[in-house]
Formats: sequence, C-alpha cells, structure tokens
Amino acid sequence: MKNFKNISGYPESINISKMQSLENLCKNFAENLGAIPVLLPVVEKRELFERSVGNSTDIVEKEMLSLSDKDLVLRPEGTAVAIRMWNNNGGLRNLKQQRWYYSDFMFRNETPQSGRFKQFKQFGIEFLGYKEGLTDIEVLCSLDQFFKELGINEKIKLKLNIIGSKEERTLYLKELTSWLTINMEKLDSLSKQRCVKNPLRIFDSKIKETQLLLKEAPLLYDYLNIESKQYFETIITLLNKFNVNFEIDYTLVRGLDYYNGLVFEFVYLNEDKSQNAVAAGGRYDSLSKSINGENVPAMGFAVGMERLYSLYSSPNEERKGFYICWLDNCEEQALRILFKYRKENIITVMDTGNRKLVKQLKQADESNFRYAIIIGESEVEGDFITRKDLETGEEIRIF
Ligand code: HAM
Repeated sequence: MKNFKNISGYPESINISKMQSLENLCKNFAENLGAIPVLLPVVEKRELFERSVGNSTDIVEKEMLSLSDKDLVLRPEGTAVAIRMWNNNGGLRNLKQQRWYYSDFMFRNETPQSGRFKQFKQFGIEFLGYKEGLTDIEVLCSLDQFFKELGINEKIKLKLNIIGSKEERTLYLKELTSWLTINMEKLDSLSKQRCVKNPLRIFDSKIKETQLLLKEAPLLYDYLNIESKQYFETIITLLNKFNVNFEIDYTLVRGLDYYNGLVFEFVYLNEDKSQNAVAAGGRYDSLSKSINGENVPAMGFAVGMERLYSLYSSPNEERKGFYICWLDNCEEQALRILFKYRKENIITVMDTGNRKLVKQLKQADESNFRYAIIIGESEVEGDFITRKDLETGEEIRIF
C-alpha cells in the first residue's frame, strides 16, 4: 500500500523532521489552550462508530478497516474514541470539564489520491464538558490565529454553518425527503439509497450533478428555531469583531452524524482541492448519550496533518551537532572526541570510517550537522582536531 511505505507512517514525500517541527507547533498550540495530551487506542469496536459517526455515513458504510475479528476496526477518527474513554472512566467524568488533544494516525479505506490517504494523522482537540457559548468562539478565533501564525491563512478559508439539534431537524428532514422524492430520478444511486436511510447525508455527495441539484433543495437553516438562529448571529458578530474571515455555507452538514449546532471546516482556496478540508469540527452535544453515556456537552476539531504540511512552508531547519570524520588508524582518537562531546551534551555522531573523507563530509552535510570534526594522521601527530563549519566552509584547528 502506497502510503504505508515511509518508516514514519507518513507518505514518502513528507520530510520527517519538518513534519516533526510542525507537530511540535501543534502541540504548543494545544498546550497554550490548556489542553492535555491523550493517547487513543488504535483498535475499537465497530459498533462505537456505527452508533456515533453513523451507519449511513461514508466512513462507516465504506471506509472502516476491519481486523479479522470483524467486530473490531482501526480507528477512523478520534472524537468518538475520546468520548468513549471519558465515559468509561468515572474519575475523568468527575472533572466535569477537560480539554484533550491527540496527534494520532487514523485509518480509512479511501482510494488514495492527492491529500487523501488510508493512513493519515489527525491533530485534534476535544473540549469535553463545555456547553455552547464562548468556547465555540474561542476555538474558531484560536484556530484562525494559529493558521495566521503558520502563514497559511491566505490559502484557506473558514466555512461555517449551524445545523440545530436532532429535534429541530425533524420537520426539515420531512420537507427534504418530499423534495428528494420529487427529484429522485436526478439523483445518483448512493444518494437514492440515502434518501431512505439518512437524507441529510445526501449533502456529503461528491457527485457534481447531485451537488448542483442540491443547490435548489430546502435549506436546513430556515427550519431552525429562533434560539439557534440568534446564537448563530452572535457567533457571526463576534467573529467579525475579532477579524476572523469566514463564509457561511448553509449546505455544510459535515460527513458524520454526531454533530449538532455549530459546524465548520477550513477548506483549501485552491479550486482543484475544493473537496478537501484542512481542519474540521463542530459541536457534538449528544454523542455521549448515543453511546450510552451521560450528558456531555462538547465540541472540537481535527486537523489533517498531511494537508496542513502541504500548505506550510517551514523556515530552513537549523543545523546542529558534530559529525566526526576519521581516517585509517585514527579511530581511538575519534572515539575519545566522540565521548568528550557527548559528555558536554552536544549531539555527536561518528562516521563508520573505512571510506574517503569527501564521502564522510558529504554524509555530515546531508544529515544537517553544523560542524564536521576531521581526524587524520596529521591531527593525531600534532594532537589537534580540525573543525569544519558546514554552513560557511571555514576550517579551524583546535588544540
Ligand atoms: P473529518 O472531517 O472526518 O472529521 O476529518 C478531519 C480532518 O482530517 C479533515 O478535515 C482532513 O484534514 C483530515 N482527513 C480526513 N480524512 C482524511 C484522509 N483520508 N486523508 C488525509 N486526511 C484526512 C473528524 O474526523 C472529526 N473527528 C473532527 C472533529 C473533532 N470533530 C469534533 N472534534
């Protein structure tokens, strides 16, 4: 499988140390928001995602990777897992509110294409126990600020919608279903099936003709109650006050069933990638109950790390440490220098030797070391070492 090749679990095109710097920036961002790290289990019961993400979503219907025990799957996402962990641990529940972050690989059996992988990393933060209100604004403004700091804000835009509660959607779904029945002939085959099982999921269709047709469909927003509409207005006013650029998209429903209220996606501005979101999330106040838990108001988001990486131009990585290049019969002196620098807490690596100096220097340069320490016959005889600055080329003797 193409994207399982790299030793890091990332696609081959990804430079691991650049990605690690980006992951560290995400970690700092989460910790500044007061979030603590959690480790999500890789394997979960299939049933967890059937009940939370939803039986008739793309993820559950087509994309889950099962183990030979068909009741178990590789986690396709982290939110349901986080809520299950919260529910299963009474001690955590007593805390009432907590912010959790994770940076973990997820698995979906999707056809690999640009920005879409079977194994991909999500950096996510879940705000557990937080009711609708200022947290929603805090999350949107903080993410917007983070993307500005990464210098990617010009390449993406925030799309926003409000989808109400299950109860608010009841009347709308009736109207939508009658409209879909009239237009049934124009729908693709998967959308036809979804009309019966879960009509809202029709908005996830990737078929261009269906997307065009849906522009004529009744709008969910028109069926929401006054409180939801007022809340959306408040969010919009505050986002404007805090200079967050956004666009309202009344057809944005997200591809997972557990959402209610505010939902959002940061999507590529680039036309070719219009299907792809870099980060996405929303409120999921009834997810906990849907898997037999208590009432846990919550919201959160996840960023696709490979997609974030594709937009991010990192500053050139700083060179660091010493690389010891040594010639025949100088190994004892090379080892002494290696241990001396390590004792001083300097990153130091020694070449395996038995090869020409130019090859050793090339290795030092390509491995991004700052200095090469050269130890040859004249160095041993004169009791000094030569230190070459691999950035400037300057060489000095150190006695
Ligand atoms: P999601 O929209 O399914 O939401 O995924 C979140 C992000 O993961 C996407 O915006 C995208 O960047 C990335 N992603 C998804 N699938 C792939 C893929 N096959 N290849 C590469 N990247 C991908 C969730 O998973 C929710 N759990 C997000 C959330 C957290 N909602 C509340 N809290």
